[in-house]
Amino acid sequence: MTRHSTEIGGIRLDVSATEKYLPAAELQAMAPAVNAAAAELEKGTCPGSEYLGWLDLPDRITEEEFQAIETSAARAQKDSSLYVVIGIGGSYLGARAILDALGGSVEGCPEIIFAGTGLCSASLDRVLKKCKGQDFRICIISKSGTTLEPAVAFRALRTMLAEQFGQEGAAQRITAVTDTNRGALRQLATDEGYETFIIPDNVGGRFSVLTPVGLVPLAVAGIDVRALVAGASQMRKACLNENLESNPAHLYAAVRHGLYTRGFTTEVMSTFHSDLQTVQEWWKQLFGESEGKGGEGIFPASTVFTTDLHSLGQYVQDGKRNLQETFLCVRHAVSELTVPGDESEGGNLDGLNYLAGRTLDEINWKAYEGTKNAHISGGVPCTSLEIERITPQVIGGLLFMFEKAVGVSGRLLGVNPFDQPGVETYKKEMFRLLGKTQ
Ligand code: PA5
Repeated sequence: MTRHSTEIGGIRLDVSATEKYLPAAELQAMAPAVNAAAAELEKGTCPGSEYLGWLDLPDRITEEEFQAIETSAARAQKDSSLYVVIGIGGSYLGARAILDALGGSVEGCPEIIFAGTGLCSASLDRVLKKCKGQDFRICIISKSGTTLEPAVAFRALRTMLAEQFGQEGAAQRITAVTDTNRGALRQLATDEGYETFIIPDNVGGRFSVLTPVGLVPLAVAGIDVRALVAGASQMRKACLNENLESNPAHLYAAVRHGLYTRGFTTEVMSTFHSDLQTVQEWWKQLFGESEGKGGEGIFPASTVFTTDLHSLGQYVQDGKRNLQETFLCVRHAVSELTVPGDESEGGNLDGLNYLAGRTLDEINWKAYEGTKNAHISGGVPCTSLEIERITPQVIGGLLFMFEKAVGVSGRLLGVNPFDQPGVETYKKEMFRLLGKTQ
């Protein structure tokens, strides 16, 4: 293998700084296994094959579905200043990741607030206080329709909505995104007459960002969901390529798995853009829930630099050498801020004039390059995902690439990447302690 990087849809993947630990010939030798894993997905012969609906989702969304989502969004944009999205795990992280990465709602569109992402009373109380007396709408998202955290938040918020708009008025301000037939939420939505969108049966929670789970809230925020899906579609095609070095999902999956089998059992995703922190959270769920089973799996962790260079940086540089690092970097952020000069007499006391006129983005990029060099010298195999500018198209491609990669790398590990049996254990214990009877 001669090349160590590939660029698709504005995303450049560079694995050259892993070669010391995973030589090019050994990486190339993984290609047949990677292609076999991918073929299992495409042919639907892998464990969990009933949840492969995400694979061709970007090309399956119809004009009718786009229009239904856009109509719902236009209504919310017209009559609401706040749009509360209630959901947990895969039912909120994708929308939030994309929204944060793109800098939030477009001007003039409702502010999106997330609720039901835990059981912390302070957090729900803040949402309730923020919505009180405001023109707000609720979008409740739960595939099973039985998850406790969103169900509790939904009960509290819809009670308040009914106090403000009456029972009927409240029902007209609620959108439910849920399973076709099953679950308490489906029943409630039918009984109360809520607007509903369906999460396809064959798409699991953490793979559902390109269904109404992600698209409805993002459309309300004014994000171009068609561009998002187009980016995913472009990436989907690139990720069908059997040539390891030009298929970003395969290359990424192969490198991280190859490093895992050589003792690098924790993957730290490091970004230099705090707006990408929720993308990291989405990625952690996707990989952690898909791979962490049967005593196997890379532990996914994350850092936001340069902030965390002043906390976790010491460990990454010099701690236990079981870390592989994946940088997720953006060359141009939204702002064009520059460092002001100081030409006053006796000025430049802070010694920063050498940076005068340079953009913060440029300085941040140098911090990335310097950190990568340092971590390589400290014995950390480093992979980079470099992006010129975040757009809906680029982020759609990025998220799809990760989905495809986790399907492949889960199969390389020998696990079913599409179930999450471990999540039930805490629920059983919690419900037993709470005295749930049905
Ligand atoms: O990926 C998953 O399947 C989970 O994270 C779910 O999305 C999460 O548990 C929420 O489930 P539900 O949408 O059924 O409320």
